[in-house]
Amino acid sequence: MADEQTGVSETEIAVHWHEEEYYSPPESFIQQANLKDPEIREKFRIENFPDYFAEYGELLQWDRKWDQVFDGSNPPFWRWFVGGRLNASVNCIDRHLASNRNKAAFYFVPENPDEMRQVITYQDLYVRVNEFAALLRDFAGVKKGDRVTIHMPMVAELPIAMLACARLGAIHSVVFGGFSGQACADRIIDSESHILITMDGYYRSGKWLNHKEKADVAVERAEQAGQHVDKVLIFERHPGRYSSDTPLTEGRDFIVNELLSQFRGARVEPESMKAEDPLFLMYTSGSTGKPKGVQHSTGGYLSYVTATSKNILDIHPEDVYWCMADIGWITGHSYIVYGPLSLGASSIIYEGVPSYPHANRPFEIAEELGVNIFHTSPTAIRGLRMAKDINPQKYNYHFKLMVTVGEPIEPDVWRWYYHVIGRDEAVIVDTWWQTETGGFLCSTVPALDKMKPGSAGPGVPGIHPVIFDDEGHEIQAGSGRGGNICIRNPWPGTLQTIWKDPERFVRTYYGKYCKNPDSKDWRDWPYMAGDGAMLASDGYFRILGRIDDVINVAGHRLGTKELESAVLRLDEVAEAAVIAAQDDLKGTVPELYVSLQPNVVPSDELSQRIVNAIVSEIGPIARPRKVWIVPDLPKTRSGKIMRRILASISNNKEIGDVTTLANPEVVDTIHQLVRS
Ligand code: PRX
Repeated sequence: MADEQTGVSETEIAVHWHEEEYYSPPESFIQQANLKDPEIREKFRIENFPDYFAEYGELLQWDRKWDQVFDGSNPPFWRWFVGGRLNASVNCIDRHLASNRNKAAFYFVPENPDEMRQVITYQDLYVRVNEFAALLRDFAGVKKGDRVTIHMPMVAELPIAMLACARLGAIHSVVFGGFSGQACADRIIDSESHILITMDGYYRSGKWLNHKEKADVAVERAEQAGQHVDKVLIFERHPGRYSSDTPLTEGRDFIVNELLSQFRGARVEPESMKAEDPLFLMYTSGSTGKPKGVQHSTGGYLSYVTATSKNILDIHPEDVYWCMADIGWITGHSYIVYGPLSLGASSIIYEGVPSYPHANRPFEIAEELGVNIFHTSPTAIRGLRMAKDINPQKYNYHFKLMVTVGEPIEPDVWRWYYHVIGRDEAVIVDTWWQTETGGFLCSTVPALDKMKPGSAGPGVPGIHPVIFDDEGHEIQAGSGRGGNICIRNPWPGTLQTIWKDPERFVRTYYGKYCKNPDSKDWRDWPYMAGDGAMLASDGYFRILGRIDDVINVAGHRLGTKELESAVLRLDEVAEAAVIAAQDDLKGTVPELYVSLQPNVVPSDELSQRIVNAIVSEIGPIARPRKVWIVPDLPKTRSGKIMRRILASISNNKEIGDVTTLANPEVVDTIHQLVRS
């Protein structure tokens, strides 16, 4: 059985279930909210599926209106807004020009506070996206349907590159800037990109990072695997001055800032895309060593992120919105780029780490730019809470709404966020969703539902979640039992497939709970998210975390197998197992258990090389907190490594019965090593 189908075992869920109190949104928020119709959930009840989603399509500008809201004739390859045609860049830019040409689309805030911020109006964005699209088309030969890999830091040129691809109908595949050259290569190879867009370097924690060197690694490794990269297009972080020590490769590497002068004033007719044409790929970790290319559509995805940005983030044109996520993750795609721009919002792109050069930087930026919607992760909130010199009171800002996303938030941390950062006046939405789902699945509707610390809330309107046990029986609300959270119905933001691997798509998300693989009825095809959850009697879901071989480090998703395969490349290593260890700041972090080949002697040098292997294969976010070199790993008689036992040891939890293992004695040895 593919381990992506391995469900949660109820007995493995040990949660201290304890009901939290509710908090209500203030009247002033309710008055101004985009969504305050108390009948909304009634309108979006499952009996009215799929017609209620037509309302989402209406939020977009179409070249040709759709004929059919939903086509479920080939489950689970759902099609949305069938027959419709549109262009995402037109929806995010052109349609705002008539009334909002001079409004800020983005504020780019460099990490160094002495460097001037940039304001990019919708007109600027229009000009820059068109010019870069012309360059991509006429210089780089990019055409509709081509995949273009973008490996960039948090700068305004990143959404410009994405939107230029969208204008041409090319499929962008953005790789998180912190990922290594190898990780970028893997994505170039899988998506068969001929073009890589990158940047010379950027600032993080006050340091200049050479980013171009990763492009060299990426292209070289891709070539080795038979994937030719024709051109590397390099933006300059300091326009007019190439700032990397890494030399340019003649005929392959080109400085975008130099080429752009040939395209000044260029305009590119936007491609009229079918609603179902893919807009982008985003690679994410699954249960196997290879990240999967999650494919999102143009019409369904854009309508879904637009609607949820409006209804859940409550973005109005006059708001200043700051999402601290990186655009290289799905949160940035959906809720920095596509959703907010589609609504004509003004939002912030911040280059660096939020605590640079001091812990109060987020509040300083909020005060300076008038931020009133603040979007971040539990890890960032914990970081702020732990910082010694934090003093939000000193700053004059007012948040009407705050978001938490990416990992479960502890009720205590939630309350601190509410009282100290939100000053008891900001509404909090805890939004649960995934790369695959395009947009929010569970969250309170901020003006309508009370908040409950630690619980994401009910399904957002139109999303009907359910919890199943391992046998597919529904777990009732308020039973205090955990299980697999699934969504009963399809929705427009859902992934279309996994790039080049439709079978993996079906198996991973529908394999376990599909009631009948021959059925043409969407009701028989619940979507399995891969998270454990509990449902309280008030209809609120509390997310417990991943049930598969995926770990969540500071809200970033990593596959344990990806880390393990990086380590297994070292000749000295015999076996490796990665587990999620609890961490006060990051929620969970990887810890690594390895056994060595016969006659290899453990040493600090070897441990360091093991860590380096992970960092260079994946990136610093995957750095294990600890490497335990052990004589053997605990295994079942069939040879499966029992990661659960190792996790219990790392997390100082009850280990349970080990007598059925093939090598129970090793558990004691490891336990002593870790405790010593
Ligand atoms: O385990 C859930 C956790 O993050 C996973 C999805 O990760 P990724 O695809 O990288 O997308 C992150 C941004 C949406 C989920 O399977 N997760 C996400 N949001 C929450 C969460 N866990 C608890 N509470 C959340 N609000």
